[in-house]
Amino acid sequence: MAYEATKDQLEAFQKEHDYLKSKLELGKEILWLTQEECIKAGPDVAETLGLIHKAMEAHGKKRYEMPAKIGIHPYEDVFYHAMPAYVPDSLACGVKWIECYPRNPKDFGLPQTTGLLILNDIMTGIPVAVMDSAWITAMRTPALTSLAAAALHPDAKTFGMFGCGVQGTGHVRYIVKALKELEKIYIYDVRSENMDRLIQEVEGEVSVPIVKAASPEELVANCEVMSSATIILRDPLKVVKKEWVRKGQTIIPCDLNTFWDPEICRMADKYIVDSKEEHKLFEGMGYFPDGLAPITCETGEVIAGVHPGRTDREELIVCSNIGISVCDMVMGQAIFARALEQGIGRILPL
Ligand SMILES: NC(=O)c1ccc[n+]([C@@H]2O[C@H](COP(=O)([O-])OP(=O)(O)OC[C@H]3O[C@@H](n4cnc5c(N)ncnc54)[C@H](O)[C@@H]3O)[C@@H](O)[C@H]2O)c1
Repeated sequence: MAYEATKDQLEAFQKEHDYLKSKLELGKEILWLTQEECIKAGPDVAETLGLIHKAMEAHGKKRYEMPAKIGIHPYEDVFYHAMPAYVPDSLACGVKWIECYPRNPKDFGLPQTTGLLILNDIMTGIPVAVMDSAWITAMRTPALTSLAAAALHPDAKTFGMFGCGVQGTGHVRYIVKALKELEKIYIYDVRSENMDRLIQEVEGEVSVPIVKAASPEELVANCEVMSSATIILRDPLKVVKKEWVRKGQTIIPCDLNTFWDPEICRMADKYIVDSKEEHKLFEGMGYFPDGLAPITCETGEVIAGVHPGRTDREELIVCSNIGISVCDMVMGQAIFARALEQGIGRILPL
């Protein structure tokens, strides 16, 4: 779906183009930002929540262009995704190229998720920046879960996280900023040392008590809102059984439902997704092997207030967020703008 820019947006593109020309020789130079430089220039947790809110509002109000991601799959359960997006309200336009190799940590001592992000000048299409995208992904994903949690279950006192790696740690950091009445966080990971590392990493930053669940069932029994970021597989692991889940809970997976019995989506009173198009594309690729449950609406529509989201305390809600590029581009543009302003990064010949 193409998006036609308004007169105000066209004026903003021109202004941005003029600004970029004052900083870079367009067409001959780009700004290169390492992960460390992204972090240095980057927004903190509260600012990221604001940026992702803006991105999801644009998505919910259909003020964007974002085709569903395309991918390549050299090995089973490995993927590379090309994720372009254009979000005119944020002057953001570009593409993320992201890889997910679930065996990397174990087999190579390397991260599961790595990638690059390219930004372009909307006025001319000229590439203006290339940056790491792993940190952006690590920030924007928990920000979206947390915004969805705040919209769907604002008074939750308990949150549970399956998977205590990069994403799990980020989720604990972000959720405490979004759910204001949170009293306890439960975490679970097959590797106990990863649970300990998560607790250590957020010490001093997260004052809500964190409990290591003895089993997935214990976590589900104790939590109103839950998320999962472990691994993504075509065949669901079905670790969480449908019998454990109850009315009134909110489940916000980041893993194409890999961790959950697929029946749970069908039992849900509302099944919300970040992008219908993306979910249908993944279904076509063999994920969601039992077929997608009927979709109620998109996460952005709930965040933008276009759809009411939860309308009854007793509703069981599943909100599946695969990860959408409007979030990446808005984050990338914010980092780029600050890096240019503060002289962070390296200008390289194009
Ligand atoms: N939806 C999105 O936008 C989005 C974005 C980024 C990553 N992800 C997905 O999130 C997942 C985690 O990413 P990450 O960067 O945090 O990886 P990571 O390797 O840093 O962490 C994964 C954690 O899950 C644990 N784990 C693996 N299998 C488990 C199981 N069966 N039960 C319990 N714990 C288990 C591992 O021990 C590890 O601690 C990946 O599948 C990734 O593709 C989704």
